[in-house]
Amino acid sequence: MQIVRSSAALHGLVGDLLGEKRRIGLVPTMGNLHAGHHSLVALARAHADVVIASVFVNPTQFGPNEDFARYPRTPDADAAGLEASGCDVLFLPAVEDMYPYGIERSVRVSVPELPDVLEGAIRPGHFDGVATVVAKLFNLVRPHVAVFGQKDYQQLLVIRRLARDLGYPIEIFAAPIVRESNGLAMSSRNQYLSEEQRGQAGMIHATLRRMAAAVRDGDPTHEIETQALATLREAGFVPDYAVIRRAEDLDEPTASERDLVALIAARLGATRLIDNFLIDL
Ligand code: PAJ
Repeated sequence: MQIVRSSAALHGLVGDLLGEKRRIGLVPTMGNLHAGHHSLVALARAHADVVIASVFVNPTQFGPNEDFARYPRTPDADAAGLEASGCDVLFLPAVEDMYPYGIERSVRVSVPELPDVLEGAIRPGHFDGVATVVAKLFNLVRPHVAVFGQKDYQQLLVIRRLARDLGYPIEIFAAPIVRESNGLAMSSRNQYLSEEQRGQAGMIHATLRRMAAAVRDGDPTHEIETQALATLREAGFVPDYAVIRRAEDLDEPTASERDLVALIAARLGATRLIDNFLIDL
């Protein structure tokens, strides 16, 4: 696996690959990689000749009180894991390279509406930061396909809109959520949890499944949501939301809606966890 640390070097390499008519797959990450990320590389591998993964802790998507400074950075382990999972090129840029005018003066890409609900309402500016860095990566890597996890469901929708609306000729693939044996969705933030909290955290997935079952039973949405919040609180979580939404755009569903998604965000101690579960009726 080749490691590329500058956008200029990456630009040259991508030019060569495109000249050889190779199909490029991109997997953007912030590092501290786990089996969930590796599954994205495997999916990209299945749809491309060359897989380029980026590891970049993107400052513009963190709020002022979020964990940018202490976000876990493990470049050596990440490189070893990516190589083992079949990645061809690791792009590891510096902040100054991705934001040559600095963070405050950067051109921003903003996807309207979707970022105003759920995660976007709680983390103002977060999805603009994500859209901005993903647009930069799309421009640099010029991939044929890009893979994102369903784990960050709202992010996936934002990126689909970004790609379609700005006309990127990139096929966006969603990778299924990889979980621990107790159902906890894998996340770099799980390492902030104690052993006991890790056990408790399986409750989020269990609650999502119960919400999905209640939807299938025809229970009213607001009752399902109230019950889910109560269950999470009883189990020691501080939930931000537990909702049933339209899968397509996260709007509140009408009674006839068939494609739904249950989403939860909840804090356990100082750690904020998010998860979701698709429900097709
Ligand atoms: P990061 O949190 O590192 O996640 C990188 C990718 O891995 C995302 O597409 C995310 O949805 C996916 N992922 C994380 N945990 C997963 C799991 N348990 N199962 C399947 N996929 C999982 O998301 C970001 O980084 C950033 O916002 C980024 C898109 C890289 C832009 O900076």
